[in-house]
Amino acid sequence: MYVCLCGGVTDSQIKEQVKLGAASVADLQKTLPIGLCCGTCDVVTEQFIKKFLSGAKDISYAA
Ligand code: FES
Repeated sequence: MYVCLCGGVTDSQIKEQVKLGAASVADLQKTLPIGLCCGTCDVVTEQFIKKFLSGAKDISYAA
């Protein structure tokens, strides 16, 4: 799923970068064009980083 529409960044790309050591949006921005335009994705990006750092394989979308 796309997390950042402006940059065309997906949750899978975030997951891969977290595996490689990214722990913040600033870390992701070193390799991905995420959060560089409108900023709408900032909160959800942080949520994905936290989930992937906690070891979750995927994000649950259940309410
Ligand atoms: S949706 Fe990520 S910067 Fe616009």
